[in-house]
This record gives sequence, structure tokens and C-alpha cells, in this order.
Amino acid sequence: MREPVPVGVLISGRGSNLKALIDAEQDAYRIVLVASNVEEPPGLAHARDAGIATFARGHRGMAREAFDRLIDDELRAHGVRAVALAGYMRLLSPWFVDRWAGRMVNIHPSLLPRHKGLHTHEAALAAGDARHGCTVHLVTAALDDGPALAQAEVPVLPGDTPETLAARVLVEEHRLYPPTLAALVETL
Ligand code: GAR
Repeated sequence: MREPVPVGVLISGRGSNLKALIDAEQDAYRIVLVASNVEEPPGLAHARDAGIATFARGHRGMAREAFDRLIDDELRAHGVRAVALAGYMRLLSPWFVDRWAGRMVNIHPSLLPRHKGLHTHEAALAAGDARHGCTVHLVTAALDDGPALAQAEVPVLPGDTPETLAARVLVEEHRLYPPTLAALVETL
């Protein structure tokens, strides 16, 4: 069996998808670094609990590419070969996206191409969608626009609020992300 592919995960907040990636069987990939553009995001605790190296630094005052180069240095220093965005809420520079082309995935809380950007659960409700869900896709230069690798659907139920819908989608995010990341790294 081949060695697990070293993966870096980028987060900005709660880190529940990071936790799901950590808790999954890490045969295909091994998370070797969790990096953040926020100094102390709550999700960093999941990395620390699992003994994973962390790099967290506020991005304010730094040009986008200069900050991304810092992250890239850390990823390279840890031998990372694929990057997973897990609630990383900062736009990446074209330089960074290009550097990790084909090796960087994101999870987005909608059935792309529907509802790109923020507030996807509100948008699905406002549009009267009968189905909603999440997408894991390759990251390309345009926001939430790269080729989809996998999707999971949930029904939109009568009386749903953005919160109840978000919670239903999040369960599917946690199911979808680990096997999709594993399948991607097996092709690298
Ligand atoms: C998740 O719902 C993820 O899909 C979303 O942020 C949340 C992060 O939660 N990502 C985006 O909206 C990216 N465009 P988490 O920190 O608990 O994983």
C-alpha cells in the first residue's frame, strides 16, 4: 500500500469539516498542517488535539499574495502535496491558486453552480429550492467555480430556517468531504 499523501487544511473558523477530515480513516491522506488566516480560530483546537502542526496568523495589513506566499512556505516546509479548504473565508491570490492547481479542493455549502458566495442557505430558501446541499470542487481562479468532484443533496423542508437547513447540509458536508479528498489524492 502506498504512503498517505501529506495534506494541508486551511480554516478560518469553527473547523467542523477539519474535524471530519481528521476523524476519517486517514489511509489515503494524512493531515500534516492546519493553517489559518485568523490568529486563533476555534477550529485550531481540533488540530492541536490531534497533534497536527498549526500555522495561524492574521492576514490584516498584508497584500493577498504576500500572505499566500507565507502559507505556501509553511505548506512546502511540511511536505504538503494537496490542500483542502475547510471554511477558509479568504480569497486566494491567482498565484496561490495556480501553484496548487489540480491539488486543491474546497467544500461549499450549496449545489454548485447554484448559490456561489456567502449566505447560501438563505439564498436556497429565498429561491424556493426543493433541494439543497453541498459540493466538493477543485479550486480555480473564479470563486466557487472549479469542476465539481462530488455533491450531496438534502431536501428543503417546510418551516426550514437558514439555521435548520445549514445543520442538515453540514451533516452531509462531513460525510462527503473525507472520501472525496481521499479519492482526489489517490490520483496524484
Ligand atoms: C462550511 O459550511 C463550509 O461549507 C463553508 O463554511 C462552513 C465552515 O464550517 N464554506 C464556505 O462557505 C466556503 N465558500 P466549518 O468551519 O465548521 O467547517
